[in-house]
Amino acid sequence: MRILVINGPNLNMLGIREPDIYGKNTYADLCELIENYAAVKGVEVKIFQSNHEGSIVDEIQAAYGKFNGIVINPAAYTHTSVAILDALKSVAIPAVEIHISDVSAREDFRQISYAGMACEKSFIGLGFDGYLRGIDYLIEK
Ligand code: DQA
Repeated sequence: MRILVINGPNLNMLGIREPDIYGKNTYADLCELIENYAAVKGVEVKIFQSNHEGSIVDEIQAAYGKFNGIVINPAAYTHTSVAILDALKSVAIPAVEIHISDVSAREDFRQISYAGMACEKSFIGLGFDGYLRGIDYLIEK
């Protein structure tokens, strides 16, 4: 099984950005956690991060025929990007949405998730653990 993990803008700043919201652990810590977990579970994982909407669309399109599942935290693009929603629908690879923080308890503009409309499940407000729950969901599926 091959899983693609996609992280959107500013997630490379984890550990630095708003630690009271996103925690003190870094993006490198997140990648290590995901890679170790995937190894234990016996799945192949590729982790991709970009601050650019089009690059994320390109990465989703390139996953067609190559990956069995997508774990995606589109970050701020969650709330704005119809292009990412359409890309996920285009490839129709089973996808799960992750948010480190509990977006449901945050600002009004974070209450819409376009990408989430193309995802089978959302793991929200679980910190880094949400990524692992997302991987579990795809494996069990
Ligand atoms: C986020 C929540 C988004 O609203 C925000 O723009 C992010 C991170 C999260 O993981 O909690 O950048 O996706």
